[in-house]
Amino acid sequence: MKKIAVLTSGGDAPGMNAAVRAVVRAALYYNYEIYGVKRGFEGLIKGDLEQLNASSVGDIIHKGGTFLKTARSKTFMTPEGRKQAIDQLHALNISAVIVIGGDGSFRGAEALSREGIQTIGIPATIDNDLGYTDFTIGFDTAVNTVLRAVTNIRDTSSSHEKTTIIEVMGRNCGDLALYAGAAGGAESIIVPEKPFTVQEIADKIRKGRTRGKLHHILMLAEGAGSATEIQQKLEAETGEKSRITVLGFIQRGGDPTAADRLLASRMGLKAVEACRDGADSAVIGIDKNDLTVTNIDEALKRGKKDDGELTRLTTILST
Ligand code: F6P
Repeated sequence: MKKIAVLTSGGDAPGMNAAVRAVVRAALYYNYEIYGVKRGFEGLIKGDLEQLNASSVGDIIHKGGTFLKTARSKTFMTPEGRKQAIDQLHALNISAVIVIGGDGSFRGAEALSREGIQTIGIPATIDNDLGYTDFTIGFDTAVNTVLRAVTNIRDTSSSHEKTTIIEVMGRNCGDLALYAGAAGGAESIIVPEKPFTVQEIADKIRKGRTRGKLHHILMLAEGAGSATEIQQKLEAETGEKSRITVLGFIQRGGDPTAADRLLASRMGLKAVEACRDGADSAVIGIDKNDLTVTNIDEALKRGKKDDGELTRLTTILST
């Protein structure tokens, strides 16, 4: 009987639990033995695995975080660490591993595959920074979490007639700032993918004040620059005080949205079916609502498509 292991790795993302549940239930459906690995690649090295059954993943589809726990393993990046992980898998006769995480985790999956372990990746990160897939698990929930914060901050910014800089996560990708900013009606959105000048934002603030605007919400993706530096330059330009809110880890938690639960469930089932069909060193993605199976190396080389639509939309609608 084929034995598969599943792990979550890197920064957690809402919907990881739903993905694990789907992998476990699909694996059992196809009569595979399924093992859960604790703390990602770190648990693989230490042999921290346990066999799961249908009940092991009961009552988790709606929960944020990951019940398997997660870690960013430095040891797995060393040849010795990888050897220990492979030895643990061989000792249990496990021939395939399903890795749920982002690009770093996929590199780990690729390394396992080079050592003869069949691997399939499922994209889960709030950053939505993988070019080969339209969406990653956790992104929609994080957008909605940020959106709730923007709505609250807008109230107080209006009352006090202030400019507020809201710094959001996303590493080198601006999607979280862009989507939540567009949905929240932010006046300015700064993302790493698009150059900006403080001058143009200052002009926008002044223009808004002239027509009686009460606030200016500036969404700043963490990869685009320092909030404090931008604040200082803006204040010097406009002569107006502003506030900074750094949303931080609030963005990574919370119950997954319906969209994330569905994406996670669909991708989990697809990963097991791809494994059954013999796919290896492959990642599941979504392209215009169709699930895809792509080679990891090829997937990670693909740059993100941005047709600039949301940026254009914000520019036109937030005047
Ligand atoms: O990749 C997810 C993410 O939340 C990024 O948006 C952020 O830059 C990073 O992880 C934070 O990592 P850590 O949990 O190590 O502080």
